[in-house]
Amino acid sequence: MLHFGEDFVWGAATAAHQVEGNNVASDWWAREHAAGSPVAEPSLDACDSFHRYPEDMRLLADAGLGAYRFSVEWARIEPEPGRISRAMLDHYRRMIDTALGLGLEPIVTLHHFTAPAWFARGGPGGGWLAADATERFGDYVGAVAPILSGVSRVCTINEPNMVALTHAEGVSFGELQAGGQPVPHRGVAEALLGAHRTARAVLGPAHRTGWTVATQAFDPEPGCEQAARDYGYLRDAWYLEVAADDDWVGVQAYTRTRIGPDGPVPAPEGAERTLTGWEYWPDALAEGVRLAHRMAPGTPVLVTENGIATADDRRRIDYTRAALAGLHAAMAEGITVEGYLHWSLLDNYEWGSFAPTFGLVAVDRETFARTPKPSLAWLGRVARNGGLDGED
Ligand code: BGC
Repeated sequence: MLHFGEDFVWGAATAAHQVEGNNVASDWWAREHAAGSPVAEPSLDACDSFHRYPEDMRLLADAGLGAYRFSVEWARIEPEPGRISRAMLDHYRRMIDTALGLGLEPIVTLHHFTAPAWFARGGPGGGWLAADATERFGDYVGAVAPILSGVSRVCTINEPNMVALTHAEGVSFGELQAGGQPVPHRGVAEALLGAHRTARAVLGPAHRTGWTVATQAFDPEPGCEQAARDYGYLRDAWYLEVAADDDWVGVQAYTRTRIGPDGPVPAPEGAERTLTGWEYWPDALAEGVRLAHRMAPGTPVLVTENGIATADDRRRIDYTRAALAGLHAAMAEGITVEGYLHWSLLDNYEWGSFAPTFGLVAVDRETFARTPKPSLAWLGRVARNGGLDGED
């Protein structure tokens, strides 16, 4: 039996743009609908979780899980600069109350890749490079703060490294993981760190705040250990290092990228690949957690995303079991890990396509009917047992 401890939190995660639908004031919606857009498929109604979130949360709670990580959408709350929507704040407060009412811990993300279209347009360079970007984000966080009472863990910014990386090259999100990656834009990275620290100051000690980092398991080929460390530093390790004073740091892990003397090398011939094309590599989670601990040794880790895009739900269970076994081993080395949140609760909009299915729950694209997969019940059993106990 691999126990994870009494206080360990088990749950699943989503993000507003990927599940809510009709996020029309956001930069992503604008990108999806721009003439000649490189985005293959628009998000449209997504999973209609904007209306169906009570059903989503109930599925999670009924399965035996204890936490739901979701994001509040800046583009809905502040669709025009300085115009705060009371109705949208009320909506997100209802989500928090619904989670609490079901016995779920709501873990709230303030920024998960999307921003209002006006923010992305504003200022020289736009978005995070605008002179007042940090102040704008701080004002938004100040507007959200009053509805966050009863929420313990708040994530300020999801995957700042991916945000800075997409900014660097205009690359599409789907092309990012498991491959050669540009160095994240330094100016954007610094602006995001400023925004994160501003958000932490605005929220104050009433909440435990952190940010969530895409850890990428840059795996060295023999003799390339230093090359892999150097390659990874600006791509993920730096974002963990600057979390040293935070209340917790989020680790998100999916796959690995092998690093040879000249940078990334392809996955081995015949390696199993998931629906995103990434190598099946459950050890990525333990590697990400160990890296977080090395970079920010005093900061507790929260696994805020881990999962696999597959049409074979058995394989999702295999992957998750192996990732959890690795996580347990890392914890046995003395690393404090507060919980595990699976990505994702639902088959959702994977930044350009609905095809890579990461969900514990399937969603019918026409009717929005939810169908739990065996993996949901499996993870629920793990949560109820407090760990892995030979369940299949
Ligand atoms: C992101 C999610 C995304 C997932 C799978 C993470 O990088 O936070 O929004 O869906 O990975 O690609």
